[in-house]
Amino acid sequence: MAQTFLRRCLALMALLAATACSEGEGTEARAQAPAGMGRTLVVYYSFTNNVRTIVGELTKAVSADVVEVQPAEEGLDYAANGYEIGSSLIAGIRNHPDDADSYPDIKPTDIDFSEYDNIIVCTPLWWSQMAAPMQTFLFRNGQKMGGKHVALIVSSSSSGISSTVADAKRLIPNAVWTGDALWINDRNRSQTAVLLSEWLQSQTFQTSTETMKMLITIAGQTQIATLENNQAAKELAAKLQEDPVSVSLNSSGDFEIWGALGFSLTSSDERITAGPGDIILYDDSNICLFYGSNTWSYTRLGKIDGLSGSGLRSFLKAGERGIEAILSLPSDATEIKTLRSEPSHSGEDIIYSLKGERVTNPAKGVYIKNGKKTIE
Ligand SMILES: Cc1cc2nc3c(=O)[nH]c(=O)nc-3n(C[C@H](O)[C@H](O)[C@H](O)COP(=O)(O)O)c2cc1C
Repeated sequence: MAQTFLRRCLALMALLAATACSEGEGTEARAQAPAGMGRTLVVYYSFTNNVRTIVGELTKAVSADVVEVQPAEEGLDYAANGYEIGSSLIAGIRNHPDDADSYPDIKPTDIDFSEYDNIIVCTPLWWSQMAAPMQTFLFRNGQKMGGKHVALIVSSSSSGISSTVADAKRLIPNAVWTGDALWINDRNRSQTAVLLSEWLQSQTFQTSTETMKMLITIAGQTQIATLENNQAAKELAAKLQEDPVSVSLNSSGDFEIWGALGFSLTSSDERITAGPGDIILYDDSNICLFYGSNTWSYTRLGKIDGLSGSGLRSFLKAGERGIEAILSLPSDATEIKTLRSEPSHSGEDIIYSLKGERVTNPAKGVYIKNGKKTIE
């Protein structure tokens, strides 16, 4: 208790010292968004306008819809009496993060998240945590942001942002994080435009026309698959971004190999006829790789590229049981576009880089050689 109090006093002193420093002049530099960035939502909260100013710079560079999170109760001074209100809101959330009543009410927002490829969350830091109203917004909407490419910008006076980043990861559990959060503080605030420019270029935002690729490895042979642009496929990609997933699959009905993923995805089942090469989600948590056809209520996850007939049956080990398959993302999933992985018929090695470019003399690195992932 005494330690917490001391820490708070030290933090308050640091805060006051930092806020006493003058803010630098604005800069003429212009931030630039990565080429082809998909539809983007910027959601922000700002109490004393620092984050609002950052968002102003950001939206000069990025074409985005902007939503401001606003506390339901207007006119509260979160900083008065030694940050009393702000401090007690953060303590309430910290003590009971799973209880909706811990979060201060905010004005309703009406966002159709399905319209967006990327979401940039911009928030102040309060007592090292994410500011309470933004935590409320994410507590209520974080699940809907699953599978989206999410970026984070945090503004503080001087405190480091690791606990705020942890809040974001807790509140948006299935985000595809675009990279490190951007930390703007009173020392670097005058460089906001330059910082934004460098940071935007470092983030892996989703582009509007992008097709997401996945690798399937069975018995040492790797095939490339194109993922669907739906919620289930995005959630699968988010899982694979953390780690590759191993699944044990069994042949069934002479049209598929299938088995449990070990986790559930958000399905959007409809009655469809799945065909050879299709990757299907069945009953929320099972993956099916098709070498034949079947009509059922399924959710499409994607399709194996460039294999058919006996090549596909042989890759999938059609008819066998206990087939170990590893699902992973290419090392740069956002760049890999149209990899072809057909085996060579002339005896010549067919080698593609993970960017999908045909290579004749590969330098050191990871390649797809005759349909197999290899390290040269
Ligand atoms: C309740 C409250 C608590 C804060 N706690 C900290 C802190 O622990 N460390 C820090 O560096 N800044 C702290 N700040 C300062 C803000 O993080 C900083 O001024 C930020 O840029 C504010 O953004 P805004 O102007 O958009 O609200 C706090 C501000 C408030 C209102």
